[in-house]
Amino acid sequence: MMRSALACAFALIPLAAPAQEPTPNALYLDGDLAIDVRPDGDAVISWRTLEPTPPGTVSYGGCPADADIAQPRYRWNSTNLDADSGPSTAHSVSIELTDLEDEHTDIGRYAANGGGTVEIQLEAWSPRFNQAQLFPARFAYRRDAGGTYRRVPAITIGPVVDCVTERSAIISWETDLPARGQVILAPLDGAGEVITETTQGVVRGAEIEIGGLPPGTRCNYTVQLIDPADDTALPGRELSFTTAPRAGSNTPFAFAFMSDSRAGVGDPMVRVERVNYTTVRRLMAESLRQGADLMLFAGDLVSGYTASRRDFVNQLNAWREAAMPVSGLMPIYEGMGNHEALGPSREDNPNRIGRSHTGSDAPEAVFSEAFVNPSNGPAAEADGAPMYGETAYSFDWGNAHFVSVNSNYWWDSQPGREGGGNREGFVMGGQLAWLDQNLRDARSRGQRHLFVYTHEPTFPTGGHLGDGMYWRGRNEEVNRMRDEFVRICSSNGVLAVLHGDEHNYSRTLITSDMPTSMEGASEETTASTAVRPMWQIISGGAGAPFYSQDFDAPWLEHVRSFSPQYHFVLFEVEGDHVRLRAISDTGQVLDEADLTAELGE
Ligand SMILES: [Fe+2]
Repeated sequence: MMRSALACAFALIPLAAPAQEPTPNALYLDGDLAIDVRPDGDAVISWRTLEPTPPGTVSYGGCPADADIAQPRYRWNSTNLDADSGPSTAHSVSIELTDLEDEHTDIGRYAANGGGTVEIQLEAWSPRFNQAQLFPARFAYRRDAGGTYRRVPAITIGPVVDCVTERSAIISWETDLPARGQVILAPLDGAGEVITETTQGVVRGAEIEIGGLPPGTRCNYTVQLIDPADDTALPGRELSFTTAPRAGSNTPFAFAFMSDSRAGVGDPMVRVERVNYTTVRRLMAESLRQGADLMLFAGDLVSGYTASRRDFVNQLNAWREAAMPVSGLMPIYEGMGNHEALGPSREDNPNRIGRSHTGSDAPEAVFSEAFVNPSNGPAAEADGAPMYGETAYSFDWGNAHFVSVNSNYWWDSQPGREGGGNREGFVMGGQLAWLDQNLRDARSRGQRHLFVYTHEPTFPTGGHLGDGMYWRGRNEEVNRMRDEFVRICSSNGVLAVLHGDEHNYSRTLITSDMPTSMEGASEETTASTAVRPMWQIISGGAGAPFYSQDFDAPWLEHVRSFSPQYHFVLFEVEGDHVRLRAISDTGQVLDEADLTAELGE
């Protein structure tokens, strides 16, 4: 949808960008995997690499049919080690689908269903990075009554549930081959009718909005693809989600918050296409177990900073795959971080980019294509600036209101140059005005608890004093912007601003007497502009390389809790109360607080 452009009211002062960790173009495969299912039950998986590589190995298996959170379990390996030539750019291996149907290992009901979705994972060596690379993927097959095998369409990403409201939800998915699909949805407790929605025409990607649902109700649903060969509905996994409670109601609910799942360091599973699969999957599953009804994810999903759109899309798709066990069971509201950057390589260093693209190649545009989020955000800030798209938006849930602010909009390492945009962490005037009005509107609707989440921390506590919304207090434009952001949030009674970027956990109480000035700073004010106390929760522990606490922060005395562990934060909202628990990837409770009681509310 086109929106009108607003003039940019800021004259941005150039300041050297902090050194970014180089994340060169991560492309390894030359195109997609090719999969050929032979009538006898062999499947040949072929791929091409951009540089000659040793042979690879394909692991294969399925998801246990009884798993409520379905993750792939691999059981067999196949490799082409007997290839007689050395490193090559063309590779293939053969796997046996009959393995899946064996009575001793058939965990996915392949024999009874006459086929199903096969989970595969390519493991291959990258001479460029001198590391093994993993590429998870999937395809589906059917075996007819005569025992003949053939390939059928499979859901490769999804089903995903998003934009859940009191009465509606959006179900989306992507397939490897064109196919019609249908959603069959049944609200539980006899609260509603069974709803069936079918895609219009044959598609490879579908987004279906289901309306007419009862508020605060568990809904079961299944997505079935239609086999184009005989119009048969293929089996789909049964999933469920809960619709939002009525706006303003005191129905208890819980939400999870986390950020920063870009590639970690170590085994290949922590850096699958620049995503820490291991950690983000574990934290997402645990947040569901702990009762979260929805999740906020505030940026740095992937390592990004790439000059290749295909690489950027691959990375975002890897995150979508990592989230798949949970993203069909609760809505995840994603926001952009500084690492979600896509633009031309710098002339002085082709492994880095200097600014983000605009238009349809803008990271905001690609991000909005990859994820389904509300599209009720602000207008583009200027002619030629990117659209905010689905990176800045808001929604109600029960008696709470959530706003996603994009603090990495129109990123440029040298802000102020011709046609350029913003330094990391800078929130432009149009978005700030939108945020202020949005929060006022939520208050006037009677929403009790207001949360603003954005990647860049207002007051960094470990790793990012030199950027975020602080930049060591040395940039007056940034100082004024941050002061305004704090004033807007606190004057509208925001309970907590939620951030990522720093790969750790911290809880800080922002008050009007909290010192904000450090040596060398050029701030007009030396204390925060909070007109009433407000929490800052930083949760950037979903898998990116860790940071320790920074004891130079002027607000050190206001930092109530800190941990460098991988973690997520669970917020439990019950009437007038909001309680928080930060939970590590091993289940350790890192912090517990009654946020409302501690503010005397
Ligand atoms: Fe970041």
